Amino acid sequence: MTYTASFHAIEWHNQQLHLLDQRHLPHQHQTLSYNSAAAVADAIRAMVVRGAPAIGIAAAYGYALDALAGRDLQHAYRVLAESRPTAVNLFWALERMAALSSQDPHVLVAEARQIHAEDIQANLAMGQFGAALISEGSAVYTHCNTGALATGGHGTALGVIRSAYQDGRLQQVYAGETRPWLQGARLTAWELMQDKIPVKLVCDGAAAQLFRQGGISWVIVGADRIAANGDTANKIGTYSLAVLARQHGIKVMVAAPTTTFDLTLSSGADIPIEQRPADEVTHLNGQPIAPAGCDAINPSFDVTPAGMIDAIVTEKGLILEPSRETVAMLFAR
Ligand code: MRU
Repeated sequence: MTYTASFHAIEWHNQQLHLLDQRHLPHQHQTLSYNSAAAVADAIRAMVVRGAPAIGIAAAYGYALDALAGRDLQHAYRVLAESRPTAVNLFWALERMAALSSQDPHVLVAEARQIHAEDIQANLAMGQFGAALISEGSAVYTHCNTGALATGGHGTALGVIRSAYQDGRLQQVYAGETRPWLQGARLTAWELMQDKIPVKLVCDGAAAQLFRQGGISWVIVGADRIAANGDTANKIGTYSLAVLARQHGIKVMVAAPTTTFDLTLSSGADIPIEQRPADEVTHLNGQPIAPAGCDAINPSFDVTPAGMIDAIVTEKGLILEPSRETVAMLFAR
């Protein structure tokens, strides 16, 4: 058995982009088709597709779609860039598309396909590097969804978990449910169950109690943007988990391709944090769960300081004890 997902979150065929609608997983499996950059931008904003590498790949295809339709590519760039602010993979992918010397639609489609293929290769490499850090018989905790749904395939943190399980190193995965979008409950638990990897779902608020009981060796998460000093933005709740992990002697691993680094930002303080609508907190599946008129805050990401991370796993290798110096060393290789 191989631990690489059997479904496709992002597919390109018949000159169209096809996205598995992640808003309704795991109970409904619906694929939506897209013909323009504006529609792809809406899909990214609405969370049809989500996860840093996946939105970069979708944006690249979205840009190519406007080229195929003969639309203004500067406009395509702008609408896609305005879809979500935190994951730098989106901007990296758009830059790569716009920087091509040829704007021939077929060249752009080929480039988007190449970005997609490279992401899968990066995930598989990270899987091997990350798995090597995990000792046999371990239990690990993960947050949000970083699997095949969030990437070109295999996954970042979930890719490490898949690879570690395949190597016989993992006994148990705990998945935090990840309020308010419940990516852990709806997506990560589903992906792991598809692969028959033992998973137990955990309410976000139960992590401290679970960590205190012992037996978990790593918290393994992905990233949306990593600054030059190793500070890491990831799904809201990641910072809390890192603080708890430190308190309980559990190590923290961030798995992210080099496309998630933003070396133009000196520290995590400069990372833009997306604020999403309050009704994502006050409502669940369209039903109110708070008093009518109740206000809420909904930051979608937080920043974990580099000093609280034990290892960043990339496709180029490991950054142990992340800092400005160790990040620079990886990029100098
Ligand atoms: O809001 P989302 O679901 O796009 O957030 C996703 C995350 O925070 C992931 O942890 C991150 O993108 C890494 S995914 C490989």
